[in-house]
Amino acid sequence: MEKTFAIIKPDAVERNLAGKILARIEEEGFKIIGIKKIFLSKNEAEGFYHVHAERPFFPDLVAYMTSGPVISLVLERENAIKKWRDLMGATNPEEAAEGTIRKLYGTNIEKNATHGSDAPETAKFEISYFFNALEIHP
Ligand code: CMP
Repeated sequence: MEKTFAIIKPDAVERNLAGKILARIEEEGFKIIGIKKIFLSKNEAEGFYHVHAERPFFPDLVAYMTSGPVISLVLERENAIKKWRDLMGATNPEEAAEGTIRKLYGTNIEKNATHGSDAPETAKFEISYFFNALEIHP
């Protein structure tokens, strides 16, 4: 069993898509072992996305991620990191495969509905950034 970290991003929450996305996550065999709705501060969003700090899109990304509440998740299943990335589809919804979450619900490369960890070390950092041990229930 592997854990990964996911976010339902502000525009998807705002458009009442969280229920559909959560249902799909469960249908695809993930167990939701941590879940909470939070409203990130600028500092918190910058810390979360620190690997992108030098990228030109960073200020816009931080502004967007602090524009409304998000739903943060810890997901568990075998091969969870890759399976969740496959289910989300490509970062840019225009390039995402049919039926993927970003294709279905993403608006553009910034407002792309969901986030997922890209590697085991990232998943570990991202889970611990949002959740403590008492908030995760396998
Ligand atoms: P996410 O998986 O959350 O990781 C970083 C985010 O930056 C990414 O999804 C996109 O929403 C956002 N982003 C905005 N512009 C770009 C870009 N040109 N390339 C990659 N990511 C981008």
